[in-house]
Amino acid sequence: MTESSVNSYHQPRPEIPPPPVGCPVEHHWSPLDDDYLADPYPIAAELREDHPTFYAEQLGYVVVTRMEDIEAVFTDPDTYASTNVQDPVFPLAQEATDILSAEDFNPVAVMSNRPEPDHQRIRVYTKRGFSKRRLKTLEPYVRRRSHELIDAMLAAGSPAEFIEAFAFPLPGETVFRFIGFPESDDEMLKNWCGERKAFSWGKPTATEQTEIAEKMLSYWRYCRDFTAAKRDERADDFASELLDAHDADADELSYREVESVIYGLSFAGHEAVTSLICNCLVNLLSRRDQWDEICADPSLIPNAVEEVLRFDSSQISWRRVTTRDTVLNGFDIPAGTGVFMNFAAANREPRLFDDPHRFDIHRGNARRHISFGKGIHFCLGANMARFEATIVLGILAERIPSLRLVADQAITSFPNITFRGPERLVVEWDAEQAAAAPTS
Ligand code: HEM
Repeated sequence: MTESSVNSYHQPRPEIPPPPVGCPVEHHWSPLDDDYLADPYPIAAELREDHPTFYAEQLGYVVVTRMEDIEAVFTDPDTYASTNVQDPVFPLAQEATDILSAEDFNPVAVMSNRPEPDHQRIRVYTKRGFSKRRLKTLEPYVRRRSHELIDAMLAAGSPAEFIEAFAFPLPGETVFRFIGFPESDDEMLKNWCGERKAFSWGKPTATEQTEIAEKMLSYWRYCRDFTAAKRDERADDFASELLDAHDADADELSYREVESVIYGLSFAGHEAVTSLICNCLVNLLSRRDQWDEICADPSLIPNAVEEVLRFDSSQISWRRVTTRDTVLNGFDIPAGTGVFMNFAAANREPRLFDDPHRFDIHRGNARRHISFGKGIHFCLGANMARFEATIVLGILAERIPSLRLVADQAITSFPNITFRGPERLVVEWDAEQAAAAPTS
């Protein structure tokens, strides 16, 4: 096996081992169940109370539900590797496998799914790229683009489908500017990146898998061409910074790793933020008193965002795989076992959060959630996600305080095991109360 196939970005799932001996087995529950997708929290709490750790037969994973056990898994990367986090949950159809077997489809695992010691070596450079300075330089873009999208939404009139009008374009475009992709490619890029959620975390049909695989291949080829062009034309962007690091020491950061970081970021920085912005609106607009409070006092917004990340995060699980035999919560778990960390259960643990099923923007320890992970793989974009959501809520609260959810709409979440956010979100407002964008 070559180095690049050992560390290739998406690996097919190996054979599923049987349930660990003695571990309680849950025969029926799956995170793809309709009732769980509609409202995971009461079911997650019940599962946690019944058996904090159990084997989910429908998924073929050991599920961990308590915060202390999830933190133990996250902080022991030698035993619990992250190599499976980008892999499809279910076996891939042959047509999709064939497309991704193209000789030039060769992105390597670089961040979330790269084992040590390489992960730390690469993270030194990627972390540097996520500096406070770079986020600061993005801020005017995020503000300007938010105002433009809101102007267009207001001009088209109430009601509006908020994801199409705002929550989908903004995070994608923000991460594309961060990387250095040209604005002229935005539409094409959004089209290619939009469906990775289904590929790695959902249960797409064979036809859907084929379509997604085609897009992934096109997107990878784009990333390679883009990186090659950037080599000759650097700018003040993340891609140029990675190329500078590669030029300074190619043994420390290889060219293929630069291309692969660019490929991986476009997804990481996109969908979860779209859903975070929507989950903020769903939870705040359905509790009018709390929305009115942030309109009156925007300094409450950062903690409101943390409470959304705790109460109804855009990411409610993550995975690991055991590298060796171990003991987890008293059960012997063999090497090669998939571990599913259920954030929906841990973020509402009564031992940690008073009245955990109550949404409260004033909660003192809202930030104690696990939604960005923990340890060496802690989300690199956490500050970017917080910063985007905070800016967006501030602008919406200032310009459209009368914003509300259209009554009686069915809010559904895309079927997948990890990411949570509305597929459609229809909002309305009183036009006469909406404010124009500030002039400066
Ligand atoms: C609300 C939005 C987001 C959520 C909930 C989220 C959540 C997560 C989680 C749970 C992990 C895994 C942590 C672990 O394994 O310990 C992760 C890793 C990561 N995230 Fe995020 N993320 C978000 C936004 C972003 C953004 C905006 C970016 C980049 C622009 C980003 C880039 C990454 C990267 C590169 C990693 C891998 C880090 C590493 O392995 O060293 N994320 N994220």
